[in-house]
Order: sequence, then C-alpha cells, then structure tokens
Amino acid sequence: MKLNRRTLTTLALAAASMASLLPGTALAQKKIVLGFAQVGAESEWRTANTESIKSAAKEAGIELKFSDGQQKQENQIKAIRSFIAQKVDVIAFSPVVESGWETVLREAKAAKIPVVLTDRAVNAKDDSLYVTFMGSDFVEEGRKAGRWLVEKMKDQKGEVNIVELQGTVGSAPAIDRKKGFEEIIKADPKFKIIRSQTGDFTRAKGKEVMEAFLKAEGKKINVLYAHNDDMAIGAIQAIEEAGMKPAKDITIISIDAVKGAFEAMMAGKLNVSVECSPLLGPQLMTAVKDIKAGKPVPKRIVTEEGIFPMEVAAKEFPKRKY
Ligand code: AHR
Repeated sequence: MKLNRRTLTTLALAAASMASLLPGTALAQKKIVLGFAQVGAESEWRTANTESIKSAAKEAGIELKFSDGQQKQENQIKAIRSFIAQKVDVIAFSPVVESGWETVLREAKAAKIPVVLTDRAVNAKDDSLYVTFMGSDFVEEGRKAGRWLVEKMKDQKGEVNIVELQGTVGSAPAIDRKKGFEEIIKADPKFKIIRSQTGDFTRAKGKEVMEAFLKAEGKKINVLYAHNDDMAIGAIQAIEEAGMKPAKDITIISIDAVKGAFEAMMAGKLNVSVECSPLLGPQLMTAVKDIKAGKPVPKRIVTEEGIFPMEVAAKEFPKRKY
C-alpha cells in the first residue's frame, strides 16, 4: 500500500499523541514538582540563595513552587501546608527559626511528601520528619571568626571589648555562630562581649543597633562581631557617622563573604569575612531527583567554606560568584 505525505503526517501525529498517554515513555514523563518555602529577602546572601535555587530548578527541569516567608514562621508554615494540599513531590525549606516545626512536618509525613531542610536546621527530636539537611556548619563559622580574632589580638595586653550583632532571634545561624565564637574566645579572659543584640540579619537593623552600642559604649568598643555581612555593612555606616574609622578604630568581623563584604574589605572598612555559601540550588536539585528515584541520600550534607581577611580581598574578588 502506498501512503501519501498527508496520510503519513496524520499517522505520525496520532502515534505521538498515543505515546503521550502511555506511562514510561519519554513524552509521558511528568516533571518533578518541588515546593520551596524561603525565609525571606533579608540579606544579600538570601538573594543569592533564592537565585541559586530558581536557576538550578530550571536547569534540572524541576517545576518550582516558590514562596517568600518574609521572615515569618507562620508564613512558612502556611506555604508548607499549601504545598501539601497541592500534593507536590518534595517540599524543601529553610526554617526561619529552629523550633516549632513538628506539627507541620508530621502533616507532610502523613501525606507521604519527603522534606528537605536547606541552609538552616530545625531542633525537632524526631529526625525521621525530614530526609536530609544540607547547608553550612554555623558553629564552625563562629569558631573561625573567634580563631581569627584570637590570632589578631594575640599581642594585645589589655581587655578586648566586643560588641555582637546577632542574627534573627531563635534562628540556627544566630544560635550557632554565637556558640562557636564564644567557645573560642572564652579561652582568654581578656575577651569580653560587652553588648549583644539582634540586628535581624538586615543592614537597617545592623546600623540602628550599632548606633545604640556606640551611644552606650563609645570608644570602649574594640571589636564588632556581626553574624552576617549585611549587619556589618549597616554598622560600618553607623561607625563612620560617629566620626570613627571602621576596621581601624574598631576591628570588624562578619560572616557570609558576599560581594558587598569584599567591596567593604577592599575599601579598608571590614577586616575579615567568614564564608557561608548560599549556592545550595544544584545540590538541592540532585537530592530531590535522588529522593524521587528512591536512591539513598545522606542525612547531613555540609558545605565546604573558607575565610577571607581584607588582605586577600582584591585578589579573591574577581572569583566570587555571589
Ligand atoms: O541562614 C544563613 C544566614 O541567613 C546568612 O548568613 C544571612 O545573611 C542570612 O540572612
């Protein structure tokens, strides 16, 4: 039997549409749907983290349902519940604070939706409520900051008065970075934290709280330890407005190593930044695919990180990705 071109085209279209109805064919493969509940947009770090997750999802062919929690736990809980109702394949989130997640995580478990924690941990006793936690070791970041300070001040005879700008109250990075830093500096009684308050990881709050520190303690302050770069950058402004020289009159240590921190270091206004990588997108997408394929995933995936003092900032800056 001879077939003309029109008949051939019709047959090809019919075959393609039948294939799309059959499970197991390439055409029938459904996209994995990932619901991600982000903390917010409080810092340069967070913006880079969001960008990493969005672009990695696109690259991996994963459909991403993204929600911005605006730094509020209740918004994140609402988002997770809506992902459960939508029956997404996997839920991932970066918990704004450590506690208060058991109920919603149990709901996800009951709906048989696997959960991945990224960046920040929860303090739930039952670790079967999530598959894996990927992100930095915040205690170690605090230790790195402490070790750098101890070395820098090793010849200093008198007291070293430190003011501390903490991250969001109850968040894993605020709790752990404080813990790691204190663990190191307590070895020498000359180090004293004379003021410690939250700046909520934002520039505006960092500036506001540093102004209050300067008003209360003035020239007594030798060191500022900020739990992230944004708060340090806000504080630098407050120090300059108070007529003092950042990184000279007050030694400044912060965490994240975002581009803004490198710019401050190159301008001679920030002494050191401990790295905390926000580029978690690609490993999240790999974990999501592995979970869906039934492959084993490690319970904890720790990010490798460095530390950048101002002396190396200009050389390192061109290599920075965030
Ligand atoms: O959880 C990571 C922290 O959150 C970053 O250090 C900070 O900049 C962000 O807001």
